[in-house]
Amino acid sequence: MSRRKKLYEGKAKILYEGPEPGTLVQYFKDDATAFNNQKHATLEGKGVLNNRISEFVMVSLGRIGIPTHFIKRLNMREQLVRKVEIIPLEVICRNVAAGSMSKRLGITEGEQLPRSIVEFCYKNDDLEDPLVSEEHITALGWSNPQEMDDMIAMTLRINDFLSGMFAAVGIRLIDFKLEYGRLYDGDLVRTVLADEISPDSCRLWDMETNEKLDKDRFRRDLGNVTEAYAEVARRLGIMKENNVVSIDEGSK
Ligand code: TMP
Ligand code: ASP
Repeated sequence: MSRRKKLYEGKAKILYEGPEPGTLVQYFKDDATAFNNQKHATLEGKGVLNNRISEFVMVSLGRIGIPTHFIKRLNMREQLVRKVEIIPLEVICRNVAAGSMSKRLGITEGEQLPRSIVEFCYKNDDLEDPLVSEEHITALGWSNPQEMDDMIAMTLRINDFLSGMFAAVGIRLIDFKLEYGRLYDGDLVRTVLADEISPDSCRLWDMETNEKLDKDRFRRDLGNVTEAYAEVARRLGIMKENNVVSIDEGSK
């Protein structure tokens, strides 16, 4: 591991050069940050859980035909992914008002939205990832109308699939954040789902009790953060009791 070239270190993950051209190794750290790094902690085991949960979600999405960067999980903390050019947008999909939308628009957290809403934020830590419109995005060249259409269509499909997947295990998918990348294949360029999907990037509430099973436990000092992530993994069948099992074993 020490001789691998580190290409990028983010707040919760590190990207290393992969074993073959066009591949990367995505390493999941135990670090948690919130409010653009103002709050920071190390949560033992979080990286292992997010690696497994994100693998499970990416594989499941791949099976319904969503193109993703995921190739395979390598070990407890690493996965092999395709190298893509990250589109500098955070694509947020909301089913229920919460977080920044509740704050910005004065809508009570937990209020069901009349329909699912897709929002875009410009990925720029210095600017604290500001909400932007399609006009900003196309005028400033961060994406183009065709790519935006692809991202919106895929995001809504992912939302439908994940809402059902989580509902089946008693979890309400409140909202989530996606990142997409451009996969170059000769002259062709394809838009694929990248990054991760985990309790770090979703709001997940217990269907019965509304208990939060996501990163809001960390953001809002609710405690038992990794325990909540482990509960998500357990319900999805990725973990039995306290032991992580393989994705194939888990789906049997
Ligand atoms: P927000 O309500 O704070 O805008 O968050 C919307 C969703 O996006 C929520 O599921 C958490 C996720 N998210 C991230 O994954 N990364 C971020 O940096 C932020 C601000 C939110
Ligand atoms: N990931 C972001 C940060 O580190 C924000 C968040 O998830 O709340 O600041």
